[in-house]
Amino acid sequence: MEYLGTFPAGFTELVKRLIERDTSLQEFLFYDESVIALRSEWPLTRLPYLKHLYPLIAWGRAKDLQSAYQLVLHTPFQKALTFSAEPNARRSFVVRLFIEGKPAPIIRELHEKLEKAIMEVLGGRPNSERPDLELQLHLRKNQQCYLIVQKGKPSEEELPAGTLPPYLCRLLLELSNPQRDDIFLDPFMGSAALPLERARMGPYQMIFAGDIKTEKVEALKARLKQKQWEKRRKTIFPKVLNATQLDRFKDDFITRIVSDPPWGLYEGLDMQAILELYSNFLREAARLLSKNGRMVLLVGSGVPLPEIFSNSDIPLKIIEQFPVLVSGQKALVYVIIPE
Ligand SMILES: C[S@@+](CC[C@H](N)C(=O)[O-])C[C@H]1O[C@@H](n2cnc3c(N)ncnc32)[C@H](O)[C@@H]1O
Repeated sequence: MEYLGTFPAGFTELVKRLIERDTSLQEFLFYDESVIALRSEWPLTRLPYLKHLYPLIAWGRAKDLQSAYQLVLHTPFQKALTFSAEPNARRSFVVRLFIEGKPAPIIRELHEKLEKAIMEVLGGRPNSERPDLELQLHLRKNQQCYLIVQKGKPSEEELPAGTLPPYLCRLLLELSNPQRDDIFLDPFMGSAALPLERARMGPYQMIFAGDIKTEKVEALKARLKQKQWEKRRKTIFPKVLNATQLDRFKDDFITRIVSDPPWGLYEGLDMQAILELYSNFLREAARLLSKNGRMVLLVGSGVPLPEIFSNSDIPLKIIEQFPVLVSGQKALVYVIIPE
């Protein structure tokens, strides 16, 4: 079975590592900065660190849309398509085209040929208004081309502005190398996406979720009253706190910090305020983190984290750093350990 996964640009190496760990991977077929295609021995439904996982019907290289159509038309895709569509269902379908991720106009004659070939497999008819099945033919900048199946409408959950989506939380949390005895802290939790995803991810000892805004903390308390959090609510501690003064926690108490501090974009913070906020927070983080502790920060590209370290005596060091794209914004992920 072949699949195509999508993820935020910049996480390719981590995604490869996680897929190798979690699937009966036979091989990676191709990948670039934000998609990865793989062949798996067993059917896959979902991988929590991928934005989407689609059945892959056909793929190859094409220099333009015309050759992309030709490539698919020459691929024997019957088996892959039958497998990814529900059995015995006559499904209406639509084929949409994308060049470098943007919708593209069809080439009528080739499109009709492709629809006919798909009709022979699925039985259903083309229906662009209310299709049961959406197929997408993508042509990427690197001339990689692929046909994938999107069943029904994508279930993109509405997230409040600024909330990190669950798959991005997973990627950041995976970088922290989570352990079952973790005492976890996100001192800039916002909507608590990271602490709650950490709780869903697997065993831990305690999770502290803090924010300077009382209403954020109250919102988390209300959420923890929901039935789904019944078993875990006693191990999750929402706190109103200032991340630059964390004296409520004793030295070396925290094993993991994963956080998305303010990037200064929306808060109207000037560079002086950013430098102060980060230096004071990092000093506290250095004090709190246990010897084998680890911190992962997602930071806007305008925040000069390495300079903050080099201009101070904060006993922490960056062991990994890579550029990523989050909702179209340039950012950096830093993995940090005590020095
Ligand atoms: C970028 S947002 C975090 C978004 C979060 N990851 C999410 O998915 O919703 C940063 C948060 O830090 C909080 N904050 C700003 N300054 C703070 C401080 N000194 N101490 C603690 N929290 C602070 C803000 O109230 C905001 O909720």
